[in-house]
Amino acid sequence: MSQFAVMGCPIDHSLSPVIHQAFGELVGRSVSYERRRVEAGGLAHALEAFAAQGGLGVNVTVPLKTEAFSLSRRLSSRALRAQAVNTVSWAEGAVVGDNTDGVGLIRDLRDNHGLALRGSRVLLVGAGGAAWGVVGPLLDEGVAQLAITNRTAARAQALVDSLGDVRASVFLADDGDKPFDYVINATAAGLSGALPALPETVFPGAVAYDLVYGPRAQGFLSHAQRCGARSALDGLGMLVEQAAESFFLWHGVRPPTEPVLQKLRMPS
Ligand code: ATR
Repeated sequence: MSQFAVMGCPIDHSLSPVIHQAFGELVGRSVSYERRRVEAGGLAHALEAFAAQGGLGVNVTVPLKTEAFSLSRRLSSRALRAQAVNTVSWAEGAVVGDNTDGVGLIRDLRDNHGLALRGSRVLLVGAGGAAWGVVGPLLDEGVAQLAITNRTAARAQALVDSLGDVRASVFLADDGDKPFDYVINATAAGLSGALPALPETVFPGAVAYDLVYGPRAQGFLSHAQRCGARSALDGLGMLVEQAAESFFLWHGVRPPTEPVLQKLRMPS
């Protein structure tokens, strides 16, 4: 049986094993997929040990995505743009890094929710690793404007500068006078029950999206709805879609995502 794993810390609640095993069943492959708790600084050793026991692929999550980027001998263009790796495989013994987070967001919005990004005005909140992962794919989808705001303004500026695209800019107070089509929360604020500071005027009529799912997304999404957002979506679909893209990289087969999403949305 082919062996895969997700590595990070904390890792106990990761849904990745359930998702990958469900994909395996749907496409008729036996997949072993486990969680491994790996702390910052421990990835090189953990990857070596996993490869030595026959492991074929690893998903990397918080706090290891930058470490995986540094350890990769070969990088996909998606990983290079994101400056982070969430999917590892091996070729001739060398670590190969890719990043499926951005495509996961796009497929969730476009295919699962039937939403169009072309020509839209997008406000991205946050300028950390999660934000870096999604900006390139959003621009590729043809958004008309990508405004970025962050608690630490200098990081938003650095992200805008790295993009070198006239459609990307730092969010300015008067940008908020006109509501956005999408307000995407890529901050870690929800982890501590906090809300990123934003003028309420950005929300009326917008689709609010949080890259995380479940209770950690609820504060931002409820606030957005109170401020007039037309819909509020958490990142569960993105999680399943990024997993599907990793599965495709490893197995060469694209699994159906809808049945897995339905199963995960069912109250337990
Ligand atoms: P990740 O990989 O999850 O993006 P990160 O790189 O540490 O993690 O980035 C966390 C992001 O959440 C940053 O944009 C951070 O803002 P700062 O750059 O100012 O640190 C943002 N963030 C975290 N806690 C926040 C809070 N309480 N309010 C607003 N933004 C917050």
